[in-house]
Amino acid sequence: MRRRNKCKPRIIPQQDKRICGCICFCQLVIVLSGVSLIYLTVAIYVPSYRAFRSGFQEKPVMCQTTNTSMINNCSWASCGEWCLTRTSGFCPQIHATARQNGTIVTLVNCTSFNTSECPPINFNTLKRYNCNNGTECALLKGVFNCSLGHCSNLSQIYDFHDCYYKADGFTVDSDKDNAKLNGYFECKGSKCTKIKRVFNCHRICKDNISSEAKNVFITIGDRVHQTRCEAAYATTKANGNDEGEKIEPTQFWKYKKDEVMMISCHTIEHFENNETLRATDCINGTIFDTKVIPQPYATFRQFWNLTGKHSYVVDPTNRFVPSQKSLTIYNHSRLYINLDGCVNTLKGECFSFLLSHGGDGGNQVAASRYVCYYNKVSSQIY
Ligand SMILES: *[C@@H]1O[C@H](CO)[C@@H](O)[C@H](O)[C@H]1NC(C)=O
Ligand SMILES: *[C@@H]1O[C@H](CO)[C@@H](O)[C@H](O)[C@H]1NC(C)=O
Ligand SMILES: *[C@@H]1O[C@H](CO)[C@@H](O)[C@H](O)[C@H]1NC(C)=O
Ligand SMILES: *[C@@H]1O[C@H](CO)[C@@H](O)[C@H](O)[C@H]1NC(C)=O
Ligand SMILES: *[C@@H]1O[C@H](CO)[C@@H](O)[C@H](O)[C@H]1NC(C)=O
Ligand SMILES: *[C@@H]1O[C@H](CO)[C@@H](O)[C@H](O)[C@H]1NC(C)=O
Ligand SMILES: *[C@@H]1O[C@H](CO)[C@@H](O)[C@H](O)[C@H]1NC(C)=O
Ligand SMILES: *[C@@H]1O[C@H](CO)[C@@H](O)[C@H](O)[C@H]1NC(C)=O
Ligand SMILES: *[C@@H]1O[C@H](CO)[C@@H](O)[C@H](O)[C@H]1NC(C)=O
Ligand SMILES: *[C@@H]1O[C@H](CO)[C@@H](O)[C@H](O)[C@H]1NC(C)=O
Ligand SMILES: *[C@@H]1O[C@H](CO)[C@@H](O)[C@H](O)[C@H]1NC(C)=O
Ligand SMILES: *[C@@H]1O[C@H](CO)[C@@H](O)[C@H](O)[C@H]1NC(C)=O
Repeated sequence: MRRRNKCKPRIIPQQDKRICGCICFCQLVIVLSGVSLIYLTVAIYVPSYRAFRSGFQEKPVMCQTTNTSMINNCSWASCGEWCLTRTSGFCPQIHATARQNGTIVTLVNCTSFNTSECPPINFNTLKRYNCNNGTECALLKGVFNCSLGHCSNLSQIYDFHDCYYKADGFTVDSDKDNAKLNGYFECKGSKCTKIKRVFNCHRICKDNISSEAKNVFITIGDRVHQTRCEAAYATTKANGNDEGEKIEPTQFWKYKKDEVMMISCHTIEHFENNETLRATDCINGTIFDTKVIPQPYATFRQFWNLTGKHSYVVDPTNRFVPSQKSLTIYNHSRLYINLDGCVNTLKGECFSFLLSHGGDGGNQVAASRYVCYYNKVSSQIY
């Protein structure tokens, strides 16, 4: 199936060219019908019948991306455009953890619900300066990412006050020596100093997380929901890295003075009419002392810094809001978009797959979290 059908121009008489063209066309028709067959059977987002026949569990689980890389010469790709040729060039490789579902949680009598968000960086919003154009770079202030004299203002998106970096390279006049502007520079006026080493600074989050009179924090992706509730019920029970089960609503947490619960979930619904919240796939339930949470609000930096500072976990037996570790099936598996690891839609499906599934949790951006299918005997997941 992976054979290329090419009609190379050869030294052939004129009339034979038409025959060759015809053969080419016929082959193309055959190939295309083959393609649509492949497409119908596997290129649906979730694997079908054939996948289950090859040992996949019928019930999906949850996956979280741990590492996404783009390499040039690869033996496998998570997604390739066009299944008939071997992947070359575009070669995304996504690794993910596969784990059983967390708990479905219902929180009752919840008041003062609020949501804060720290969206991932959008590089397109950066202001760009073209230093090759007149005096555009006569007055620069901040840290810039430059390439051949085109510079964008990184100070707009990274917080450079609170991280370590050193402008210790050569100094250029951004107004005159613009061709030398390649890489990272700290600029004051037209005096730009090269930052030689890569830095690791946090992105700026405009929102803050209000903590006044809140006792539940629910993290979903790059959002944190804050609320004050009376009790929490579970309608499913986890069973380690085996499949969990449905149960009658069981209370596993209730309001206690000076205590705060934090959980990480996949989706949330807020019913204002009966002050109820319903969240799915909740894991990592921990209890914090109110004293360790900055009041009346915490910045996202401060909030992330709370990781690991809990007093205890909600359920040490890991039945309700269990630790991610207790649910893990595979720590680090390859993720494929489908059984073949390729699509034939030619609509940039791989690119959007990469956007929706490729977030690997770098720079405090939440890792992509999604439903996936796994194979009990091989650690490949889809
Ligand atoms: C896990 O959750 C997903 C999405 O809610 C659901 O489709 C799937 O059936 C659940 N899997 C198990 C094993 O319960
Ligand atoms: C991610 O994968 C790439 C290529 O396989 C590897 O070079 C890199 O070290 C990995 N990163 C992490 C954080 O595991
Ligand atoms: C690509 O990788 C294969 C096997 O790993 C190797 O044989 C081949 O020479 C590589 N090609 C290039 C262009 O690096
Ligand atoms: C929730 O509020 C209702 C009415 O205000 C009350 O009857 C009920 O006991 C409360 N539930 C809990 C778990 O506190
Ligand atoms: C949510 O919080 C923001 C600031 O943190 C505040 O301006 C807003 O009024 C709050 N919304 C609700 C419904 O409490
Ligand atoms: C050069 O700068 C002028 C104004 O300073 C601006 O109008 C023009 O569009 C710029 N040209 C380019 C190619 O950026
Ligand atoms: C800097 O610019 C280069 C080229 O435009 C880009 O590849 C790189 O990701 C940028 N780095 C940052 C931190 O914005
Ligand atoms: C770059 O962004 C920072 C922060 O938003 C701002 O203070 C600075 O003036 C900007 N620099 C330029 C040259 O626009
Ligand atoms: C969040 O807190 C920071 C620092 O405490 C403050 O400068 C900023 O204005 C706050 N943002 C909002 C939206 O309240
Ligand atoms: C709250 O209302 C929603 C629909 O509005 C309903 O689905 C849910 O069961 C209700 N929850 C409780 C605890 O009454
Ligand atoms: C759950 O907690 C573990 C250990 O603290 C952490 O590595 C993992 O990223 C957490 N998972 C989520 C979804 O926050
Ligand atoms: C993070 O917590 C440590 C102590 O636990 C503290 O020293 C540090 O200043 C905190 N960082 C931020 C950004 O709040």
